Amino acid sequence: MSAEIITTGDRILEIIKTNNLTKKFNGFTAVDHISFSVKKEEIFGFLGPNGAGKTTTIKMLTTLLHPTEGSAELSGFDILKERDKVRKHIGVVFQDPALDTELTGRENLDFHARMYGLDKENRKKRIAEVLKLVDLEEKKDVLVKKYSGGMKRRLEIARGLMHYPTVLFLDEPTLGLDAQTRRAIWEYIKKMNKEEKTTIFLTTHYMDEADYLCDRVGIIDRGKILVMDSTDNLKNAIGNDVITLSCSNLDELGKRLGEESWIKNVKQHNTFLTLGVKKGEEKIPIIFEIARNLNIKIKSISVRKPTLDDVFLYFTGRIMRDQEKKDAKIENLPPMLRSRGR
Ligand SMILES: Nc1ncnc2c1ncn2[C@@H]1O[C@H](COP(=O)(O)OP(=O)(O)OP(=O)(O)O)[C@@H](O)[C@H]1O
Ligand SMILES: [Mg+2]
Repeated sequence: MSAEIITTGDRILEIIKTNNLTKKFNGFTAVDHISFSVKKEEIFGFLGPNGAGKTTTIKMLTTLLHPTEGSAELSGFDILKERDKVRKHIGVVFQDPALDTELTGRENLDFHARMYGLDKENRKKRIAEVLKLVDLEEKKDVLVKKYSGGMKRRLEIARGLMHYPTVLFLDEPTLGLDAQTRRAIWEYIKKMNKEEKTTIFLTTHYMDEADYLCDRVGIIDRGKILVMDSTDNLKNAIGNDVITLSCSNLDELGKRLGEESWIKNVKQHNTFLTLGVKKGEEKIPIIFEIARNLNIKIKSISVRKPTLDDVFLYFTGRIMRDQEKKDAKIENLPPMLRSRGR
């Protein structure tokens, strides 16, 4: 798969910078020469399916894993040569919960703050601040084993913020939580980014999460970054509207539509075509006309605004939800139907 990296914006305020960062496990390349940067105070999302290399990247950036190759800087400090300085500037919330459930919420925070050397007065002040930020003031003296999943996650986020990190890493912050709790966590993430000016580096395989939260996203698949840009730019790159249609002859209609200059891209899937266009509604009659001339019957057609799901599908050829390529396998396409990123 050819990778095309799109970057925009200035590079002056880069708080994370990687250069060919690579991790191999016994010959298997989990993270494959990735070079990217994260800007100060942005919410940056690393988006990718299971096994894409998201957690491995976070572990390298947070000095927990030694890269096989390449380098990275965080707040100007080298992740290999200045590990202690890097650690002082970061907070991490891991994918797997890591709280002491036999302690209360406040005790968990206090323990963490002591490890970072905060004095008594500062600990008290900071614990009150972070508990307020995630709405856990009333539960602070309850044992964590009695917390719900969402409350535990909020406490973990609060703990990650205790020592005023410049960058907070959140690995799948809402994995396994119900829709309402996920929404609440999104609000806390936005709030800490805004109020505390914390740069957020999050990983997710939820498109809606990345769409709602992130200023910019990088799509990672099989250890490689396929594309990186603002969510708006990525959506615009595939067309202002997405038309999805099914018909009696996908191959022929797809090929014919691929000749139309007003269509930004045509992509053929197992049972449908997607087209990236401007002013989708106005294009529907034209598409019907083209199909009629080819004696092709359109069975269904719809137009909508692109989502990050479309972006992911466009650049990886796969649907994020089922990574088995079931519904979206793109194979043996004529060249004009292949889009960039494939
Ligand atoms: N310690 C390890 N030893 C061997 N292989 C590993 C190790 N850690 C990760 N891997 C492999 O590296 C690849 C990337 O794993 P990683 O955990 O970074 O993926 P991820 O994008 O975080 O996935 P998920 O969405 O499931 O959390 C996977 O194929 C995984 O099996
Ligand atoms: Mg992971």
